Amino acid sequence: MFKRLLANRGKNAGHSAGADSEQDLLAKLDLTRLPVHVAIIMDGNGRWATWRGMPRSFGHRAGVKALRRVVELCVELQIKHLTVYAFSTENWKRPLEEVNILMDLLVEYLYKEIDELCANNVKINPIGILAELPEKARTAVYAARERSGANTGMVFNVALNYGGRAELVQAIRAIVGKVSEGRLRVEDIDGEVLAAHLYTAAQPDPDLLIRPSGDYRVSNFLLWQLAYTELWLTDTMWPDFSKQELLKAFLDFQSRERRFGGLVHK
Ligand code: IPE
Ligand code: IPE
Ligand code: MG
Repeated sequence: MFKRLLANRGKNAGHSAGADSEQDLLAKLDLTRLPVHVAIIMDGNGRWATWRGMPRSFGHRAGVKALRRVVELCVELQIKHLTVYAFSTENWKRPLEEVNILMDLLVEYLYKEIDELCANNVKINPIGILAELPEKARTAVYAARERSGANTGMVFNVALNYGGRAELVQAIRAIVGKVSEGRLRVEDIDGEVLAAHLYTAAQPDPDLLIRPSGDYRVSNFLLWQLAYTELWLTDTMWPDFSKQELLKAFLDFQSRERRFGGLVHK
């Protein structure tokens, strides 16, 4: 089972490794006002490795460890939905060797983590054009989805060969298909209908988007769903992303006033 951080909540606050320790940050957090859906663009692996004189693959491997930390804390805090951007529809532009390494790491991650994820009731929901993934990756992804399908805890959306534009295009195709078959009327198409045809159908929009690595863009991630998402950007490279940093992002999120175009919405 994942480490039990919450069990010690408050016990060592103020006495541990400084004001930014996990325990101190956790003590400040309002557990009743956590984001329901957290989305993360896991970026900066390559630069992190290059700065250390190492191959980019070293950074991707370290990035997997960061993912493990983040999933562990999200499970512990009972976050309901976590969406991570693992491979974009544009990432095929990279050298084949790097693409292969990323796919191998994905397969390794799923096979290594599936038992623990299932023990923690996590439901793995891969999103993206899965049919275009290399066979080994596809098999691992489908197996993980199948095995965790009945789990009722955190929905863990893993964006693979995912692009926000491609997602909208497939939704529009599906909707137009229904209209042409007479199963849907044009005048009944609204935001809800569109959202119901996205990979994230039936899930709430992200409350918080985290982008590490110092780049300030969404890189084709969840274009529709991010309309009113709070953004949290940090210069930290993804392999260095710690539980403390996630707790800081949550604390900052709790200080935001979300208005959704209205006046006050608490
Ligand atoms: C994120 O790190 C991993 C993927 C995009 C798959 P990058 O590989 O983009 O790392 P940087 O941005 O080049 O540092
Ligand atoms: C976004 O990172 C995609 C993933 C993290 C999987 P990129 O590194 O591909 O994005 P850009 O190129 O900086 O916009
Ligand atoms: Mg990048």
